Amino acid sequence: MKAGFLEKLIERLGRIGPEEVQNYFLRLAQEKGFLETVFNAIQEGIIVTDSKGRITYLNDAACGLFGLEAAEAISKPLDERVRGLDWESLTKSTGPVSHDMEIFYPQNRFINFYIVPLVMESRNSVAGIDDSGQPGSPIPATAEQVGHVMILRDITKSRRTAQQTIESERLNALTLLAAGVAHEIGNPLNSLHIHLQLMERSVQKLNGDAKAELQQSIDIARSEVNRLDSIVTQFLRAIRPSHPQLHPENLNTIVEEAVRFFMPEIQDRGIVVEQELRSDLPLLQLDRDQMKQAFYNVIKNSLEAMKRHGTLHIRTDMDDTNVIVSFVDTGSGMSAENLSRVFEPYFTTKPSGTGLGLLIVRRIVREHGGELSIESNEGEGLTLTIRLPYIERRIRMLEAGENKTPLQGTTASQPPSET
Ligand SMILES: Nc1ncnc2c1ncn2[C@@H]1O[C@H](COP(=O)(O)OP(=O)(O)OP(=O)(O)O)[C@@H](O)[C@H]1O
Ligand SMILES: [Mg+2]
Repeated sequence: MKAGFLEKLIERLGRIGPEEVQNYFLRLAQEKGFLETVFNAIQEGIIVTDSKGRITYLNDAACGLFGLEAAEAISKPLDERVRGLDWESLTKSTGPVSHDMEIFYPQNRFINFYIVPLVMESRNSVAGIDDSGQPGSPIPATAEQVGHVMILRDITKSRRTAQQTIESERLNALTLLAAGVAHEIGNPLNSLHIHLQLMERSVQKLNGDAKAELQQSIDIARSEVNRLDSIVTQFLRAIRPSHPQLHPENLNTIVEEAVRFFMPEIQDRGIVVEQELRSDLPLLQLDRDQMKQAFYNVIKNSLEAMKRHGTLHIRTDMDDTNVIVSFVDTGSGMSAENLSRVFEPYFTTKPSGTGLGLLIVRRIVREHGGELSIESNEGEGLTLTIRLPYIERRIRMLEAGENKTPLQGTTASQPPSET
């Protein structure tokens, strides 16, 4: 479009012959189409209203943000189409107004908008022609406010990031406080433990019913102290930010060590543990102690779910990018409802469980860049699968630029997305 086309057209209007009018109309229609294409291509929403607040134009982005149909919305009052918009007070000011708002329909989004008065030059008559219809001196244009332009920008992303930062800071503060309290509980627990031992020694010197009664009370107190102690230890383990000490490790060895730890219990319960360990696994960068802790928690859950006489099948394998270790047990399994709550802190179905075991497993796996999944049906056992990357994920290849040379060998240590 040539700049000033309209200006020139207006200047020449008085001299245009009827045969030229059609050409000019066509040209104007083209220019309108061109402008509409441009306005629809931009990401910002644009709404134009007349002086009564009725919509005279809106682009595709604005339609998308408010869930409007352009054809339906035109010439309707904007505040009727967008309920809750106090158009009257927003347009009171003679200057631009800027605001944020939250939209709930068709999608929950945050929008920043500004409204500018739309001022147009108006001429009472065609330039160069005076009221008598005779060519005369040009008539000066006067500025007139004919409506408003509203420009909308989607700020959902930055707003959500800001919110998440605030939330995570709040959570950090809370966690720190809780960790402090949990840590302080450790000392009195220790002291309680020692004093229970002293009491037990004194009780040994007694005779009769009193001795049995006191011994029973001491046993209960001790088991509760142990329970508290394990809650505090597990809690601290779950929330303490740990920095894994990574070394090249063989995952099979860690699995074998974890199983060996439970051997007496496995034999005692008559459980069969089958290990199907793939021998050509690549070494993984792992924190051995943490990974062993994760496997302990998983195996312990399986043993507890099977109680007696079941099978725990542990398999290691690999695909293009991950080493995979799966634990398949023939225990009680879980209902869909319980499965959905399994990573909630303190969710447990056991009388003396802390409900932190799997949370710790997930944290450890994530800190190693891996993923954890659980599949189960009630009464049909449970399968827990851990996937640990052994190759750093490749970034997505982009279409080559103008010279069409493919990008080669680009790798990036992109952290996996949180699931
Ligand atoms: N292999 C499994 N089979 C059936 N249910 C399981 C299994 N593993 C976990 N669960 C269920 O998930 C719940 C949460 O497990 P999690 O390990 O987080 O805590 P917990 O085992 O209850 O307590 P803790 O680990 O402190 O002993 C368990 O209480 C149990 O109901
Ligand atoms: Mg557990």
